Amino acid sequence: MTVQPSDSILIVDFGSQVTQLIARRVREAGVYSEIAPFTMAEAAFARMQPKGIILSGSPASVLDANGPRIPQVILDSGLPILGICYGQQSLMHQLGGAVTGGDAGEFGRAFIEINDTCALFNGLWNIGEKHQVWMSHGDKVTSLAPGFRPVAASPGAPYAVIANDERRIYAMQFHPEVVHTPDGGKLLKNFVRHVCGLAGDWTMAEFRKTKIEEIRAQVGSARVICGLSGGVDSAVAAVLIHEAIGDQLTCVYVDHGLMRMGESEQVVSLFRGHFNIPLVHVDASTLFMKGLEGVTDPEAKRKFIGKTFIDVFEAEARKIGGADFLAQGTLYPDVIESVSFTGGPSVTIKSHHNVGGLPERMNMQLVEPLRELFKDEVRDLGRELGLPDVFVGRHPFPGPGLAIRIPGAVSRERADVLRKADAIYLEEIRNAGLYDAIWQAFAVLLPVKTVGVMGDGRTYDHVCALRAVTSTDGMTADIYPFDAAFLSRVATRIINEVKGINRVVYDYTSKPPGTIEWE
Ligand code: XMP
Repeated sequence: MTVQPSDSILIVDFGSQVTQLIARRVREAGVYSEIAPFTMAEAAFARMQPKGIILSGSPASVLDANGPRIPQVILDSGLPILGICYGQQSLMHQLGGAVTGGDAGEFGRAFIEINDTCALFNGLWNIGEKHQVWMSHGDKVTSLAPGFRPVAASPGAPYAVIANDERRIYAMQFHPEVVHTPDGGKLLKNFVRHVCGLAGDWTMAEFRKTKIEEIRAQVGSARVICGLSGGVDSAVAAVLIHEAIGDQLTCVYVDHGLMRMGESEQVVSLFRGHFNIPLVHVDASTLFMKGLEGVTDPEAKRKFIGKTFIDVFEAEARKIGGADFLAQGTLYPDVIESVSFTGGPSVTIKSHHNVGGLPERMNMQLVEPLRELFKDEVRDLGRELGLPDVFVGRHPFPGPGLAIRIPGAVSRERADVLRKADAIYLEEIRNAGLYDAIWQAFAVLLPVKTVGVMGDGRTYDHVCALRAVTSTDGMTADIYPFDAAFLSRVATRIINEVKGINRVVYDYTSKPPGTIEWE
């Protein structure tokens, strides 16, 4: 059962890759929304009694006999409706307009010209102006259903935006939810606030309350176990779940000995000390280090760490008597990357480390309260829950930890050397006030030794590479352009203070073509 406030928007998902972004934009407008797959839209509609409906895009075609359809109750409801891309096409298809297969679709940036006034354009777009939007469609609307008028057009889409003011139904061929439609968020805001008349008083505090009710309804009196990775996501999920069900939750922190400086101590003191949450801290570093001995292949490292993590976690879960539910800090980007409407396989660039496979193996159901959130929203929620800023604002850290920042063989000694260099680098970044402007910064210890001179002597030590990138979601990234004085200050400190490193280089590769991590 889901609990929702009375003022809500139902988003009907026809399978677009970006449906969650619609929900995000609606949340940014201060309005609660829920997404329901089209197959369950009718039930969601009856349960939620929303104040407005948004229809998503889709990889399907309305011309296909089996193409998803809008439930008739929604069309008959008299509520405001906004159709996006496939949503527009299905509205026209079902209300008496026409759609034809695109011999030449439009993909990417396009400019639409505003031809008429429209409630969606209120305070935003005026007649005669041209605005950038993001198109991604094969089919297109070629004739309008009765009662609709065109209000904006692009060279490829004469009905780029259409309106039926009497029925308060609006639709657009482009995607307002993506960032490449710069005013898209405002168009969606106009729909939910101006057309649907919602107040815009939905906040993270409300989200917290709603989620707590949902978790209670899902879990009942059962036991939940949560694997903490040391990162922000699993910590926020755990604190939220603890607030919902108290000591029915046990957290297990499998410490592989490959964390950043001071991080394990911070997790333990935060959970046990600050939040008083039951926490099992397993120091499994010896097991991990032994298993990693001589392993140099990146995928072999990742697979070993992932599997060992699961083994240790499972053994600990058994010790505490098992659990019915497994809590995970899965975020929306993890969901989009892993689910595809068409079910086609995508290429594996890296085996990401998570506890995938564990729920089936241990016969557990999942509790994933952060599934619809993006990283920055998780941080907001973390602050809302009282997690300290320094913890919440921490740069992302990969599950396999420092092992994938030590190309070649990993050892405890190498991890210690890297940890020291990394800590100096991060300290300098914080001192320069740059930490929050950077998505991720870290040091990498190379398996390459070079000759140097220190004092009067020759040195023969490892090279350390520094990486810093900006990004919004980790999917693409740009290098952070430090000034030379900063980099040389960091290099000097690392070489002087960290035994085992005598040369420092800066990684100038964006993603793509590089990945953020080195392995
Ligand atoms: P790449 O290296 O693929 O990284 O460009 C993109 C983002 O994902 C993080 N990353 C991981 N996170 N488990 C995680 O939880 C992993 O196995 C993993 N590998 C990479 C990486 O730090 C960056 O933020």
